[in-house]
Amino acid sequence: MRLSPEQRAMFEGVRGWPQKLAMEMLVAVGRAYDAEELIPTRSVHLVIDGTALGEPGLRLLERLVDERGQFVVPVTINAIAVDRRAASERPLTKEETAQLRLLEACAKMGCIASCSCNPFSQGFLPAFGESVSWSESATAPFVNSVLGGRTNREGATALASALTGLTPAYGMHLDAERKGGVLFEVTAPISKLHRYGLLGALIGRRCNGRVPVITGLEAPSRDELVGFSAAFAIHGSVNMFHMVGITPEAPTPEAAMGAAPYETVSIDEAAIMAEWKRTQGADRREVDIVSIGCPHASLEQISEVARIIDGRQVKRTVRFVVHTNDDVFAAAEREGLIQGLSRAGVRVTSDNCSVVSYDRLPRGAKLATNSAKMAFLASAVSGVDILYGGVDECVEAATTGRWRNLPESGG
Ligand code: F3S
Repeated sequence: MRLSPEQRAMFEGVRGWPQKLAMEMLVAVGRAYDAEELIPTRSVHLVIDGTALGEPGLRLLERLVDERGQFVVPVTINAIAVDRRAASERPLTKEETAQLRLLEACAKMGCIASCSCNPFSQGFLPAFGESVSWSESATAPFVNSVLGGRTNREGATALASALTGLTPAYGMHLDAERKGGVLFEVTAPISKLHRYGLLGALIGRRCNGRVPVITGLEAPSRDELVGFSAAFAIHGSVNMFHMVGITPEAPTPEAAMGAAPYETVSIDEAAIMAEWKRTQGADRREVDIVSIGCPHASLEQISEVARIIDGRQVKRTVRFVVHTNDDVFAAAEREGLIQGLSRAGVRVTSDNCSVVSYDRLPRGAKLATNSAKMAFLASAVSGVDILYGGVDECVEAATTGRWRNLPESGG
């Protein structure tokens, strides 16, 4: 791999240990993917989930601080395992303290403590054609496919990019890798976030490593595109899709597709219903938990829940949580939404979620959600049974304790 004189100096440790470590990581990954060079990266989104990083991660980040590591590009932070607002009113556990030390170490190196897996709702939007290094699987498809930015699905390399402002030139940074390899013609009517989630899950699995080109969709909202991206990413390994008329590089299917021949897949209503049945894991109607906001809810989504609940009360036996980050929470509080939801029995969390949390979901609980990503993770990680539907169905389940639609009732 070609390195400029300045990059070589960093690699050899002339600029200090943090940059040497970061360069070793970037060069190793670059070589593994046959990257010819390192290119500038304009921003980083970093995952510092304490449940995953644990003590070794904390030791590394605090050593980077001690060794004068500094982030050289804007760095936002993904959801963390602590609800910072709730935690400020009670004693912290040992794990929570470690999580906040991880965040503090990043803050000392210059991060923006956004603590959100939906940075788009707060205006962190890479520009068209800009190379960035974003971790959290749900963000890469949105950056590549909706904004026309360029990022691979980063892991620890995001930290290395934050310390150097560099990323290896492979994958989504290269024009050739962004071309479509399979065409999905959607004939099913798709509207509402939960149906975009089903479609994202289905296409994420069916594209089999190829970049999908998707036709037949009309003007999804930003929240629906975020939900689609999250479901697409968690059900597959591809970091980009082309939605014709929405993706900047896809004004037409021909502009987005690579060389023919390619497979064409039709997605009709029967396919969407089959995906819905596949997502439903629960076989009884009683609901224990309702979870909205995966990725973190925007202000519009919080407002939608408040509008739908409209004075009704959450049933005493149900825990209803809406996940968002501290900034969106504050904005919702200014509009009186948090207070209204709290009176109704809805708990809005700040910075964490039902999965990224030390407070694990009870195994075997029945969890209702409108998020295909939450459905997948809560079931896989926490062993809960899923009830899947729209936000109105989730609110109804929270207030009645019962889920209306099970597969045998026809959806
Ligand atoms: Fe965010 Fe948690 Fe979902 S981190 S993407 S709300 S699993």
